[in-house]
Amino acid sequence: MPKAWIQDRKKEYYYKKAKAENYRSRATYKLSQAAMKYHFLQRGDVVVDLGAAPGGWIQAARKIVGKTGFVLGVDLKPIEPFPQEYVRTIIGDVTEPETLQQILAFLPRKADVVVSDASPNISGIWEVDHARQIDLATQALQIALSILRPSGNFFVKVFEGDLLDGFVNTVKNNFEVVKLIKPKASRAKSSEMFLLAMKLKSHSRVIEQS
Ligand SMILES: C[S@@+](CC[C@H](N)C(=O)[O-])C[C@H]1O[C@@H](n2cnc3c(N)ncnc32)[C@H](O)[C@@H]1O
Repeated sequence: MPKAWIQDRKKEYYYKKAKAENYRSRATYKLSQAAMKYHFLQRGDVVVDLGAAPGGWIQAARKIVGKTGFVLGVDLKPIEPFPQEYVRTIIGDVTEPETLQQILAFLPRKADVVVSDASPNISGIWEVDHARQIDLATQALQIALSILRPSGNFFVKVFEGDLLDGFVNTVKNNFEVVKLIKPKASRAKSSEMFLLAMKLKSHSRVIEQS
């Protein structure tokens, strides 16, 4: 990572706030701001967090669901464990079919909410990064459709670009309410956005891969 970028980041408001409040990442606030505004995470929920390292979203979700809930974090990289019994983490690749089996083995019941901040290493080539991000979001959707209860919710990171409309339409086939949102904690100059999909429909589980 360029040195100037790291220095800029350290001066940034949410970076400092995360350090002061003992959160593992500034990304924590993206989930907590969205959840506070749209109420898609509730006390007692079972939550699966895809692309969860280092664990900021796990911390945000854990705070909302409390000890009557359950949070499972999944990432390619190991996540430093959490002491709470109702928070678990596994190493897994969301693009690999066996990861779904690993997730199912951990869940106490069907998930109420699936969130995904999974993101590829950024190449700097906009079309490539956009396509990779939509691909990861599609994999996250596949997992969500397999593990969510009826009327469950899905929150996923996307990048703006020409593949986004197709992805949004696929999500609309499967959920009653779908909206694109940009939490305040998401940098204005980044093409990152989040797709919030609420109320999984009981029919229509078709994913059209391009
Ligand atoms: C922006 S970070 C997530 C930050 C996290 N939400 C937090 O608050 O701490 C994106 C994560 O996606 C993970 N990731 C990328 N591709 C993945 C894949 N195929 N399967 C699982 N995780 C993946 C990366 O390892 C990285 O940790």
